[in-house]
Amino acid sequence: VRWGAAAALVFAGHAALAAGGSAAGVVAAGAAVFTLGCGDNDTSEGPRLSALGLFEDLPGQVPAAGVVPFDVNVVLYSDQAAKWRFVALPPGGKIGYGQSDGVLDFPVGTKLIKTFGFYADLRDHARGYRLIETRILERSQAGWTADVYLWNDAQTDAVRHVSGRKVDVSFIDDSGATKAIAYRVPNTNQCASCHEIDGAARPLGPVARQLNKDYDYGGGVVENQLDHWAALGVFSQPLPPAGERPAMPSPFGAAPLEQRARAYLDANCAHCHQPGGLAGSTGLDLRFGTPLTSGTGICKAPVAAGPGTGGRDYVIVPGKPDESIMLFRIDNEEPGVKMPELPTVTKDARGIPLIREWIAAMDPKTCMAP
Ligand code: HEC
Ligand code: HEC
Repeated sequence: VRWGAAAALVFAGHAALAAGGSAAGVVAAGAAVFTLGCGDNDTSEGPRLSALGLFEDLPGQVPAAGVVPFDVNVVLYSDQAAKWRFVALPPGGKIGYGQSDGVLDFPVGTKLIKTFGFYADLRDHARGYRLIETRILERSQAGWTADVYLWNDAQTDAVRHVSGRKVDVSFIDDSGATKAIAYRVPNTNQCASCHEIDGAARPLGPVARQLNKDYDYGGGVVENQLDHWAALGVFSQPLPPAGERPAMPSPFGAAPLEQRARAYLDANCAHCHQPGGLAGSTGLDLRFGTPLTSGTGICKAPVAAGPGTGGRDYVIVPGKPDESIMLFRIDNEEPGVKMPELPTVTKDARGIPLIREWIAAMDPKTCMAP
């Protein structure tokens, strides 16, 4: 049943999305490129995403008026999924910019939305995509609540789910090879593993160092996201001058290696690896801008021996990536060893060489047992 349904999947055109228009160009995939696993794709019950009124064109991911798309400087690696992010403020709601760090304080009623999907062919987005899940963080009086909506086979709507789900996905990667993975939609408890700090959930992407970049709003409007939001009048106070706003570089751009590696670790690891985060007790703090010391892994002994070390003695041995636990853990697919922890199931083929290059470029040092 699932295979038959998958063969008839409808793919919304990407060109329409980039232009901010409606998804008029519907592309059908010839073969069953995507299939849903588990045979329990019971997307017929539960609240529907369409009922939230966040999109003018739901499968095209064209937001409704007042819902603003955004992007981040450094994306979280998610098994090569494509992501569409949006923010919806309550009427008249204002955002606090934070002191100087630009950690935004959203008003009660804010919804942050992130949809995950897979392009059929990473080399040619015009061949269409399949939406898998839409995640929503909503600010209530009591704090942030997390929901996940699972897309149906027909790609017409998504239905709220509490339990996690494995979804079989296959796509053509950058090298032209076909990849098949059992993509994991996290359950709503798992959201906490990354989004909670000291037991309270919070957004991760909408901080100045992530939002401080240009975005193509369509119709020829390319603007810095913070300036765009300011022009919309959504900040409760004037922003600091552009030169005083923090920013992280793209890990795969032209910035110095050190900056790029630190930005990568911030976006992919630091939500757990900071005081109060899930991995706070390891003492490994991977936030952008924390000084490079044993706290960031330099000659740091691991908190526990065992398979997680790969027989290596320190998290980072400067100049020696192959002796560094950090590289062993990210270049690994073994559950319990691999970093980041689930839900990703594949290694990050761009992130691993970046971290290898960064450690290799450090002044070689012999680490000493304390
Ligand atoms: C492995 C860690 C991880 C897990 C698990 C996770 N998230 Fe996130 N999430 C992130 C990171 C990091 C970002 C920001 C970077 C990005 O968007 O690529 C993010 C971004 C988001 C956003 C966009 C707004 C924001 O905070 O940046 C939403 C909405 C969201 N997540 C919801 C959820 C929900 C709901 C769940 C559970 C079903 C979940 N997330 C599980 C790490 C995670
Ligand atoms: C979802 C939360 C989470 C994310 C995201 C995450 N980690 Fe971890 N990490 C943990 C936890 C929990 C531990 C402690 C238990 C263990 O060693 O498995 C840990 C342990 C480690 C250790 C051993 C540290 C020590 O001092 O013993 C290293 C190294 C590590 N992680 C690297 C990374 C890197 C690099 C990333 C990003 C590419 C990352 N982790 C992302 C949760 C996370």
